[in-house]
Amino acid sequence: MKNGKPLDPTPKVADSYAPGGVTPPDDRRLPPNRMGGAPRPPGADGPITAEKPNGFGKHAWPTDGKPGTLTLRNGAPVGSNEHSLTAGPFGPALVEDAWLLEKNAHFNRERVPERVVHAKGAAAFGYFELEHDMSKYTKAKLFNGERTKTEVAVRFSHVIAESGGADAYRDLRGFSIKFHTPDGNWDLVGNNTPVFFLRDAMKFPDLIHALKRDPQTHLRDNAKQWDFWTLSPESIHQVLWLMGDRGIPAGYEYMNGYGSHTFMWYNDANEKYWVKFHFHSEQGVKTLSDDAAGQIRADEAKLDSYTQSLFNRIDAGETTAWKLSVQVMPFDEAFTYKYDPFDVTKVLLHADYPLIPVGRLVLDRNPTNYAAEVEALAFAPSNLVPGIHVSPDKVLQGRLFGYQDAQRYRLGGNHQQLYVNAPHATKVDNPYERDGGMPAGDNGGARVNYAPNSHGGPVADPKYLEPALALRDATGRYAQTDRRNDDYSQATLLYKTMGSEGQERLVRTIATHMQTVPPPIRERAVAMFEKVDATFGRRMAEILLDDGVDASTSGIRPTEHAANLIGP
Ligand code: HEM
Repeated sequence: MKNGKPLDPTPKVADSYAPGGVTPPDDRRLPPNRMGGAPRPPGADGPITAEKPNGFGKHAWPTDGKPGTLTLRNGAPVGSNEHSLTAGPFGPALVEDAWLLEKNAHFNRERVPERVVHAKGAAAFGYFELEHDMSKYTKAKLFNGERTKTEVAVRFSHVIAESGGADAYRDLRGFSIKFHTPDGNWDLVGNNTPVFFLRDAMKFPDLIHALKRDPQTHLRDNAKQWDFWTLSPESIHQVLWLMGDRGIPAGYEYMNGYGSHTFMWYNDANEKYWVKFHFHSEQGVKTLSDDAAGQIRADEAKLDSYTQSLFNRIDAGETTAWKLSVQVMPFDEAFTYKYDPFDVTKVLLHADYPLIPVGRLVLDRNPTNYAAEVEALAFAPSNLVPGIHVSPDKVLQGRLFGYQDAQRYRLGGNHQQLYVNAPHATKVDNPYERDGGMPAGDNGGARVNYAPNSHGGPVADPKYLEPALALRDATGRYAQTDRRNDDYSQATLLYKTMGSEGQERLVRTIATHMQTVPPPIRERAVAMFEKVDATFGRRMAEILLDDGVDASTSGIRPTEHAANLIGP
């Protein structure tokens, strides 16, 4: 009200959030969901010019200058976007101001729960191009033919940091790829290391509780981490990766990616192979020392250094690519090889299973909307396609349930219908799974919703059955029954490849990391380091144990882990 008169109901320039009063045009929206119509190809947006404030982030402005009218979600035009409807200039606000209520209510619901792990991350889009036909080993269409190209979405992440955490921290990094193949989406949800801390999914929640914040102080606590690791000696190989030079990458583009687990490939004749995936950065592997990372973290403008660097280089059109190679193991060798290939704390030695080049992963498009294209991205190891299957790896088996369960909670039961998760190279034909929160498109329309039916609904085709895997043993809760599950031999190999300077850096990193760790845990740690290498153990004992306690005979021993076979 001005002088007792209502304000001019015409929207003012200042009503709009954008400088100059212009509002981004509708054509910045994501392509509509496949069920709701044909998707727009990336980059098919309308006439838009771009400005980059602070050299980061794209804000698009229309070139024709005339903004459209803002609407509520029901499509009705908004009269004022700055002034609430009130009873007089000093009066209380009226509940009949539908726009005020909608605007704030929608704002209150802007965040979906962050991922329980890997909350901090960045994504980009591009393609995978096959350079060597793999049909000898797999019938997966993305690996068959000449120069086959497959659309991909890739999300890089930290394991432990929360969504707002700093990038330049010591942590494992996630490396997830969604391949849009003609037989559906295949997700490879890997890390930047070829191994993991555990060999059984049963221990994953405990690992994460030990690494995330304390339930009382809400602080991260290195003593918790070392307590868990030293009572879980199978973690030592992964711990050395983490504490070694590769523990802090210089950026997402400077790290390698690994499928980590052994997977199964099978060809047209149903012949089975075991396979490990390796993505080698064409940018080279670059890492940060603790000091350099500390300096980056100290600069508030560099909190998101990885996200910034990835976005800017793709925005600038710089090549951002990885070479994919695989290690292939003939099926029967899994049971005789010197290491258990289904134990994700182990690698297959390159000398035994050399890298076979396959193709190239290229990222060339940034997201246009973080919430819709990155936060809503949902990767799941259970998203498999014909030609690619899982192995009996107990961690991988546990992951087959975990991811979609988390996503049903985080994003809802219909999250696979979101454009960023839906298949782009084939159509979903499933009128039997319906309803639930916010189904996209026509929700199956009037088609038959049960099977079997006499109405021509889609049917399963046995040619897509996964190959059978013969069972070898009785059910039971097995621990380290396999002699090949030893915890230390590959940690020793890794330690040896570090060279004397790398080993010295490892010692210093661990010493710094363990500063706040109490003596009994230090003793257990030293006992582990001794088993990796006697000199390493001695060196760590000099630093960590000043009371001359012989850690290997200190009487502090792992608890349950020592039992060999817990089940029958
Ligand atoms: C039993 C072991 C594991 C369990 C139960 C587990 C569970 C989870 C869950 C629940 C999420 C969040 C998913 C979401 O909300 O979208 C997640 C994310 C992730 N996990 Fe695991 N995880 C396990 C082991 C691993 C291993 C061994 C790797 C790598 C080799 C890995 C790589 C990732 C990555 C990269 C993400 C982030 C995916 C994204 O970018 O959205 N996880 N994990």
